Amino acid sequence: MSSTFKPLVLVVGGTGNVGSTVLQALAKTNLYRLATSVRSASLSKPQVASLRALGIDIRAADWQIDGPEMLDQLFSGSDIVISTVNSEARLDQKILVDAAKRAHVKRFIPCDFGIARVPGVMDVSDEILEIRKYIEDSGVPHTYIDVGFWYQITVPYRETAKGHIPELVREFYGDGEKKTAMVNRERIGLFVAQIIADPRTLNQYVFIYDDMRTMNEVYEVASRIAGEDFHKIKVVVSEEEVHKRVNDLKAQQKKHPWYQLMYSLYFRGDNTIETAKSHGALDGRVLYPELKFQSLEEYAQEFYADTSAS
Ligand SMILES: NC(=O)c1ccc[n+]([C@@H]2O[C@H](COP(=O)([O-])OP(=O)(O)OC[C@H]3O[C@@H](n4cnc5c(N)ncnc54)[C@H](OP(=O)(O)O)[C@@H]3O)[C@@H](O)[C@H]2O)c1
Repeated sequence: MSSTFKPLVLVVGGTGNVGSTVLQALAKTNLYRLATSVRSASLSKPQVASLRALGIDIRAADWQIDGPEMLDQLFSGSDIVISTVNSEARLDQKILVDAAKRAHVKRFIPCDFGIARVPGVMDVSDEILEIRKYIEDSGVPHTYIDVGFWYQITVPYRETAKGHIPELVREFYGDGEKKTAMVNRERIGLFVAQIIADPRTLNQYVFIYDDMRTMNEVYEVASRIAGEDFHKIKVVVSEEEVHKRVNDLKAQQKKHPWYQLMYSLYFRGDNTIETAKSHGALDGRVLYPELKFQSLEEYAQEFYADTSAS
């Protein structure tokens, strides 16, 4: 296909975890022209060189402060815009929605890529629902994509692993019996590539995930594959303690997404395909039965084989 006829996909935030996987997966399809906006503070990141090497057009843009004219240039000619910005920029996405409307973008995908959303449980989800409402009120064609909780922050690390994430992930909430949908973050791009090429997903919400398991199952699988009893090193956190941590952080006017998330996932059991469907989602595993999904067992094999990472 001549490149003139390939749709142009613009990814805002392409140097990030999600943005990089999306751009890599889309580059592999050879179906699109690809561009990404990068803030000036990020231009020296090594990811910029990797993306450039894939043939991706790097467009320097401080989109939150540049103003409408610069944004119109940035969005000019884009058929699809995918936002993969981090949580600090979440509400600023209204600026991107306005620009998508002016540029007559055919599909705008806001940065979700997370758990099933239930209003009124997590501030983060309420912000995401606020952006969805803004998109719908603006009449911008869109698709919302959620993928479950990332394996990368679910599966327990070996006892020898130190640092913020290993210690956070060692905390164990509730009785471990609530099912939760999970995904390998590196595979999100593969799902996005399917979804944006599919006319059935226009103006729809898609929930697509790799596996759906309980934390007791995660610990059983992880212990068996790593050869280490993770139950021995887990730190059990009660529901009362979770509420206390949320309230303490609120009292200090700090953001508190992690503990609200733990409450939603492991005490309420919100993060399931059933919840997502009850809020209007299409089931990605039904839409794409030919896709191979990565089971918890397969991810754990990979994770514990890499002793430098686990
Ligand atoms: N389900 C889960 O378990 C889970 C976990 C974590 C995150 N998520 C979701 O995934 C999304 C993306 O996460 P990520 O880990 O890919 O994010 P990330 O790598 O931390 O950041 C993504 C991009 O956001 C831009 N950015 C960073 N700080 C910014 C700021 N203060 N203002 C404006 N832009 C900023 C940067 O783009 P530039 O290149 O332009 O600087 C960066 O490359 C999150 O927003 C969240 O919705 C889900």
